[in-house]
Amino acid sequence: MTKPVKILAFAGSSRIDSFNKKLVKVAIEGAKATGVEVTYIDFLDYSMPLFNEDLESEEGLPDTVLEFKALLKNHQGFLIACPEYNGSITPLLKNAIDWASRPEPGEPPMSLSCFKGKVAALLATSPSGLGGLRGLGHVRAILEGIGVTVIPEQKAIPSAYQAFDEQGHLNDEKQMQEVQGIAKKLAEVTAKLSQ
Ligand code: FNR
Repeated sequence: MTKPVKILAFAGSSRIDSFNKKLVKVAIEGAKATGVEVTYIDFLDYSMPLFNEDLESEEGLPDTVLEFKALLKNHQGFLIACPEYNGSITPLLKNAIDWASRPEPGEPPMSLSCFKGKVAALLATSPSGLGGLRGLGHVRAILEGIGVTVIPEQKAIPSAYQAFDEQGHLNDEKQMQEVQGIAKKLAEVTAKLSQ
């Protein structure tokens, strides 16, 4: 019997009107079309303290980190839309990855159990002309460094204020197809690699 494939989808922004939240929601439809199960989470619901090894050794991992780690472990693929801050990853997403990379009691130090063998696809959008493309290289390098296979296909949508309509859909049909095609590819590669 084949294992059911589950994709965890999130944006690297907790901003209420985040364009990247809109983008990842557009992409989710592409993944769902393949029949996989998709869980969307908002980091507003997983507020994690700024990582500090003292916090970890004094009190163990915070509950929100344990919840986030459990979600990562329970999904085989990650669909991520990340804003670019000063040419790089947002501190919100880096903080979440850093916390999740830490072992739980009883786990070996670098087991990276949330990440090893998982598959990810990356998207970005921003008001700028490059759409956050430069940041994606950094997100890719970080994830690949902790054992995640990041599919080569990625998309950065420029001019975010013009790109989305009132309902959060992409105005450009070609962009929509491309974004959903990447999510579909993620679902297919995840299914293949996680059997
Ligand atoms: C930005 N923004 C930005 N945009 C960009 O294309 N390249 C960049 O390097 C940066 N740098 C940057 C730094 C900081 C600290 C902030 C707060 C913002 C603008 C950013 O793309 C814009 O605020 C997006 O709307 C953020 O994404 P969400 O929150 O809408 O998903």
